[in-house]
Amino acid sequence: HTNPDREARNILIANDRGGYTIPTEGLYPYQWNWDSAITALGFAQFDLDRAWVEIETLFTGQWDNGMVPHILFHQQDEGYFPGPDVWGCNGPIPSSGIIQPPIAATMTRKIWEQDTAFGDARMKALFPKLRAWHRWIMKWRLDEFGAVCTTHPWEAGRDNAPDWDNSMARMDASDVGEYKRRDTSHVNSEDRPTKFDYDRYIRLVQIGRKAAWDQQKLLSLNPFRIADPTMTFTTLRAARDLLVISEQLGLAAEGLSTDIEKLEAGARSLWNEELGSFDARDAHTGEMSGSVSNASYLCWYAGVESDKMLERLKATLETVPYPVPSYDPEMPKFDARRYWRGPTWAFMNMMIGFGLQDLGHTEHANQLRKKTGDLISGFGFAEYFDPITGSPAGGKAFSWTAAVWLHWAG
Ligand code: DGY
Repeated sequence: HTNPDREARNILIANDRGGYTIPTEGLYPYQWNWDSAITALGFAQFDLDRAWVEIETLFTGQWDNGMVPHILFHQQDEGYFPGPDVWGCNGPIPSSGIIQPPIAATMTRKIWEQDTAFGDARMKALFPKLRAWHRWIMKWRLDEFGAVCTTHPWEAGRDNAPDWDNSMARMDASDVGEYKRRDTSHVNSEDRPTKFDYDRYIRLVQIGRKAAWDQQKLLSLNPFRIADPTMTFTTLRAARDLLVISEQLGLAAEGLSTDIEKLEAGARSLWNEELGSFDARDAHTGEMSGSVSNASYLCWYAGVESDKMLERLKATLETVPYPVPSYDPEMPKFDARRYWRGPTWAFMNMMIGFGLQDLGHTEHANQLRKKTGDLISGFGFAEYFDPITGSPAGGKAFSWTAAVWLHWAG
């Protein structure tokens, strides 16, 4: 990796499909929601217009009710399963029926602040759409404590995190039927979720489709509903950013301050005292997961301070060669290569780093940035990395890893 800047740019350019960027060739051939928001930050370093276009294209897929899907199937690709025919959605662009962590408002604010004269008009045009998505989340995803729930493991973005294990185990997927996975034909199956998990991912898609993605119906029909640190912290951060944008541009923002209060309470409710960490909670049973994940460390990103998490972070920076692992290496379920059960994800580090920086933990932010930079320059632009050895895993030439290099770690 003699010239990682150029390599990172070339990855974004090669993954550009005209207005949107695929996460990586083969494994992920469409536009993914939170991937795009991160990727836009990378483009902003060398092509600000293209950065805006990435987000604007994402919102062309927004449903009338405000929902912004986790995948937009702009064009058919046989290499991916489950495609548009399995989801059966009727949005403006063929799509999935679930969301992803709402980081678009936050990343768009960063792109806008890079050059407000350039971006003011586009920010004003995008604001009502960001606001409508936020409203949809507040309407359909809050639990009784104000924490934000994920209704599919893919929705929280941490597909096979141990956080979901108990809830997944309770779920019956015996009638899922025959289907053919495509992910394991692109990358090593050791790096990917198991069949047990995949059966349940697909079963949940079938349940959603049968309900025609009617959220009211799914409140009772969907067996999977988990208040989660990823969804809660990113939604809280989005609300704060939307409020700032509205103040700066003189746009109406009724309700946002109340949302922030509710979400702050929700975020605090995810504190697991026994575990000493932010954690996920099954909304159907009230049971906490007992997971220290990289999402637990997104508290600062949400503007939520925690001495205990800072202590944990310090220990992690000292003891794990390539932090922050997606699951605590001390815990029995840790699996260094299997997706969200151990590996380090550069973009999660960047989001943790944003939070640390914002709350004045500059030294920790710098350490994390430096270690993330070493990881990428040493091992390449992989989807994710073994936190102990640094070895690359999953897809290669990955857009968000390239974007992290360009915006933050490089
Ligand atoms: C997949 O297909 O593995 C994706 O993570 C879904 O978003």
